[in-house]
Amino acid sequence: MKHLILTVIVYSLSILPAVGEAATTAGHLAIAFPPDRSFVESGIINVVLQGGASTFDGVQISVNDRKQAVPSKPISRYYLCYDGIRLSYGLNKIRVTGFKDGRKTEEATAQVFYRSDLSPSSSSAPPAFRKYLFHGDAGEKVCSPCHELNFTKSGQAKDGPDRSPCYMCHKKILSNYRFVHGPAAVWSCLTCHDGKSTNSKLSVIKPDDKSCADCHETSWGNKNFKHGPTAAGNCTTCHDPHAADKPFFLRMDTGDLCASCHEDVLYRPHVLTTFSGGGGHPLRRSPDPFNPLKDFTCASCHNPHGSNSSVFLNAYEDSGTMHSFCRSCHKM
Ligand code: HEC
Ligand code: HEC
Ligand code: HEC
Ligand code: HEC
Ligand code: HEC
Ligand code: HEC
Ligand code: HEC
Ligand code: HEC
Repeated sequence: MKHLILTVIVYSLSILPAVGEAATTAGHLAIAFPPDRSFVESGIINVVLQGGASTFDGVQISVNDRKQAVPSKPISRYYLCYDGIRLSYGLNKIRVTGFKDGRKTEEATAQVFYRSDLSPSSSSAPPAFRKYLFHGDAGEKVCSPCHELNFTKSGQAKDGPDRSPCYMCHKKILSNYRFVHGPAAVWSCLTCHDGKSTNSKLSVIKPDDKSCADCHETSWGNKNFKHGPTAAGNCTTCHDPHAADKPFFLRMDTGDLCASCHEDVLYRPHVLTTFSGGGGHPLRRSPDPFNPLKDFTCASCHNPHGSNSSVFLNAYEDSGTMHSFCRSCHKM
């Protein structure tokens, strides 16, 4: 906060008019960030508007025609910054409307694609959309006059989250979630975002499992069979590295998570074809009758990481027989 206020004063005295003229016709509402036709891999982004106009006294932001709750800001400022704008998988149309005396006077739009491996129809962006890496010189240039964007490890938040250099722009990636991941909860963001990877100065080491392994024992590493995305090191396809509403920081309920890549499993009988009128084994129960502290899900039978069984069955490895696998729950 301290950095911000100091630089804002300097900025508004000296550079503001110059940048204003260079960027766009002064006085018209425009979306400075995100760039039109860009794609991101995050469901929560910042939206920064250019304004400073007398043609509006309030703004409204909507995504795919759903209104977003945004705080009101002093509209006279040339840049208006908002965090916590929520996207859905796939194409998002961001529409910003300027109002004066309650009447619509201005409008600006931008299209942003939210790419994710968990949404088969959104797993790749349309060809015209370009990946936008913000934390590089081009992206940060617009913001650095007012925001401190030179980060050092020593700048981590020892005295509370709002002292973190990341807090102002990314606070919503942790807030309002039931579970927050240890290192993120103390805003040790630079532990993982150390920029040692190549493409952005705050990028994480890829594949993820390299950084996760610093703190987590990945005992499935020496199993005979490893599950596709785990074997590829893509831990964050399933686990949000920051925070989530689901246990284990899963991005969805386990059943939905697995079905997002194995949808076919839901449409044919699983495991059992002869019992239960051919309907297959139940795939969900809440709570699990055999383990009442958890839900019964795909992961009750399959280890999501790997095992010595070729379909990663839990409790199979001890004996290596299907009978003992079934008996781990059923006293048959
Ligand atoms: C003219 C100075 C200025 C520029 C340029 C600027 N900001 Fe800001 N920004 C501020 C000020 C002042 C605040 C604190 C007041 C507020 O929340 O509006 C702020 C707050 C924010 C917030 C927090 C908003 C909230 O609701 O809590 C975000 C996110 C943000 N800026 C992102 C950016 C990004 C990204 C850029 C570059 C694309 C940028 N800003 C450019 C001055 C600026
Ligand atoms: C001035 C605001 C601002 C500050 C301060 C800031 N970020 Fe960002 N960051 C952004 C914006 C804008 C994006 C683009 C996506 C979005 O809108 O959330 C972004 C994207 C990212 C990304 C995705 C990769 C990329 O380069 O686009 C990572 C990772 C990230 N930020 C980490 C951090 C960390 C860690 C810190 C603190 C050391 C930090 N950011 C501080 C505004 C900011
Ligand atoms: C345990 C390691 C870890 C910690 C700690 C961590 N991150 Fe991340 N972060 C990641 C990984 C991994 C990604 C995904 C990058 C990818 O897959 O491209 C990511 C992605 C991001 C992104 C891009 C958008 C998104 O949601 O995927 C932002 C922004 C970000 N982190 C900000 C932060 C901030 C701010 C903090 C501190 C509160 C933080 N991160 C702490 C590992 C971490
Ligand atoms: C700097 C150390 C550190 C790193 C790096 C780290 N974690 Fe963690 N993780 C923790 C701590 C501490 C906990 C336990 C506290 C908690 O639940 O937040 C934890 C808990 C978890 C849990 C919940 C475990 C349980 O039994 O409830 C999962 C899942 C997890 N981390 C996944 C990851 C993934 C995936 C990565 C890599 C992107 C990662 N972690 C990187 C420190 C780390
Ligand atoms: C296909 C999705 C998926 C991938 C990929 C994945 N996990 Fe998990 N992970 C899960 C699920 C589901 C659970 C919860 C299992 C349960 O309910 O018992 C879990 C549980 C965990 C736990 C806590 C319990 C345990 O087994 O120790 C940790 C830690 C963890 N994962 C870390 C990782 C790391 C590190 C990676 C990358 C090497 C990774 N996961 C990759 C789905 C995944
Ligand atoms: C991001 C996509 C993704 C997610 C999410 C995912 N899987 Fe997979 N799964 C794969 C891939 C890729 C393979 C390897 C496919 C192959 O080799 O045929 C695989 C293989 C498997 C196999 C072995 C299949 C076979 O025919 O040998 C099982 C069993 C399995 N997954 C179960 C699960 C379970 C249970 C979950 C949820 C915890 C899950 N998967 C989540 C992508 C995913
Ligand atoms: C009651 C335990 C159990 C549950 C629950 C379960 N599975 Fe399975 N699954 C098995 C067994 C056993 C096999 C091996 C079947 C065989 O070899 O005929 C298997 C095989 C598979 C395979 C590979 C063969 C195929 O049918 O494609 C996939 C993929 C798979 N399961 C995914 C899932 C997903 C996704 C879920 C949750 C929606 C799930 N399983 C729930 C026990 C279970
Ligand atoms: C991880 C625990 C677990 C394993 C392993 C498991 N089951 Fe089940 N099974 C369940 C649960 C939970 C139910 C649902 C019970 C209920 O709703 O009361 C169930 C139900 C059943 C039913 C009754 C189906 C119905 O429609 O009512 C049969 C039959 C069955 N299992 C057979 C098997 C067989 C055969 C195996 C081995 C291939 C097996 N189960 C492995 C947990 C398990």
